[in-house]
Amino acid sequence: MAHKLRLGVLASGGGSNLQAIMNAAAAGQLDAEVATVISDVECGAQERARRAGVPSVFINRRDKARYPAREVFDDAVLEALQAQEVGLVCHAGYLRIMTPKLVQAYEGRMMNTHPALLPSFGGYGMIGHHVHQAVLDYGCKVSGCTIHFVTEGTDEGPIILQRAVPVEEDDTAETLAARILPIEHELYPQAIQLFAEGRLRIEGRRVRILPKAE
Ligand code: GRF
Repeated sequence: MAHKLRLGVLASGGGSNLQAIMNAAAAGQLDAEVATVISDVECGAQERARRAGVPSVFINRRDKARYPAREVFDDAVLEALQAQEVGLVCHAGYLRIMTPKLVQAYEGRMMNTHPALLPSFGGYGMIGHHVHQAVLDYGCKVSGCTIHFVTEGTDEGPIILQRAVPVEEDDTAETLAARILPIEHELYPQAIQLFAEGRLRIEGRRVRILPKAE
């Protein structure tokens, strides 16, 4: 088989999306492999990478002596991605806003998963529990998840895949999150595979999904 797409996964949390990506790769569902996992805090994602035997890099955002500014930190991230010849960067619960330099270096080659239907309930501060609580507080009847390309505006990049999830009468932020997360686990590997097959064409805000080559 032709040389596989090398993924760099950025994670700050439990790493269940990372796990879904690694599982899909191990099951032969992806023309891609996780080349490196980069985390900015000690987190479950690092442990999952370790268990799967995937190289991981810890760039400690709290180490202000080493990374006194966001630019210095992101330069270290960029270096780690380039060292592994990463072709697609996947944010999977990564909780840091990036510098324009890092975003531009992977323009059209960086994805994120967001646990709501963008453009609603996205942007600065809309992370984790806060997203689902905001959906409930607004009284929405549906939520869902979005896989999108990353651009400089937080959660503003062109949308690749979305799926709706109904809000149930007695939902809490926790129960809603728990129903959305497995859908992210399904969609993220699909988006990666579409990218690996060269089937995602960005046209302005729209991402066209091209038919599979015969
Ligand atoms: C996911 O819901 C993702 O959309 C959000 O944070 C959660 C990360 O979960 N950004 P995990 O770390 O992949 O388990």
